[in-house]
Amino acid sequence: MEELRLDAQLAARLRRATRAVALSGAGVSKESGLGTFRGAGGLWEDRRQTGSAATGDRRSRGRPEELATPEAFYRTPGKVWRWYAARYATAAAAAPNPAHHALARWESLFPSFLLVTQNVDDLHQRAGSRRLVALHGTLAEAVCDSCGRRRPMGEAVAASPAEPPECSVPGGGTGCRGRFRPAVVWFGESLPAAALETASRAAAACDLLLAAGTSALVYPAAGLIETALRAGACVVEINPEPTPFSRFAHLRLAAPAGTALPALTEAIASCRSMTG
Ligand code: APR
Repeated sequence: MEELRLDAQLAARLRRATRAVALSGAGVSKESGLGTFRGAGGLWEDRRQTGSAATGDRRSRGRPEELATPEAFYRTPGKVWRWYAARYATAAAAAPNPAHHALARWESLFPSFLLVTQNVDDLHQRAGSRRLVALHGTLAEAVCDSCGRRRPMGEAVAASPAEPPECSVPGGGTGCRGRFRPAVVWFGESLPAAALETASRAAAACDLLLAAGTSALVYPAAGLIETALRAGACVVEINPEPTPFSRFAHLRLAAPAGTALPALTEAIASCRSMTG
């Protein structure tokens, strides 16, 4: 992407900004080879995904959204577990792309910065982002559905590839007899309260919000953009496709995040290095 030229008014706002928030979605990981959920080829659009391709399980035809609910887990625990095990393996094999690396730089560009991700693929964390809240959990961990004990997903899958493993005390003693499930937020479940509280406070107090690679259709995450707009923040959107918030954005980059985010980060770094 060519060097991004910001108009004077926008450059002034970006130079003055002290509290920045970035909201990221599946589109940011698209160039790392991970599918999005909606739109052409999205996980929720591509029912074949639930068939043999992802899990090698010919019985598992159904709507993926039926796979990402607590009801589905209790109805068909093996199917759900194998589906997430496949998604975990794909994410673990993927690498952060330039969009992830660019966003990690925002921590040093702004006195106050928070990355709010809807992604469960751990790629932001692997790119070095630390000031981050993961609103929808993580594929990297499994959690006991009874006592809340957590363990690495890789270890849980290795121990039991086909069915969710029982919660047993390390060394073989009987645990709470709960079952491990992916540590992600399923449809119909509440988001982690502390993460949502932190994200909402940051959005209400920010003077710059970037929405990158999200369809902005899923709440309460998408509500953070509304909160920032109401707070009078400057809103920047990166998405090849329009979203419900595109017309409210002060800057819209209709391009892949892998090129637009590094270009935007360079432009912000250079306008913030200018004085006056
Ligand atoms: N760069 C930037 N954006 C992209 C790219 C790209 N290379 N490729 C696609 N996009 C955009 C799409 O146009 C789409 O608007 O990314 C967006 C992805 O939208 P969704 O698939 O809806 O993903 P997301 O917004 O993260 O979904 C929110 O919904 O299914 C649940 O829990 C899941 O966290 C997820 C939540």
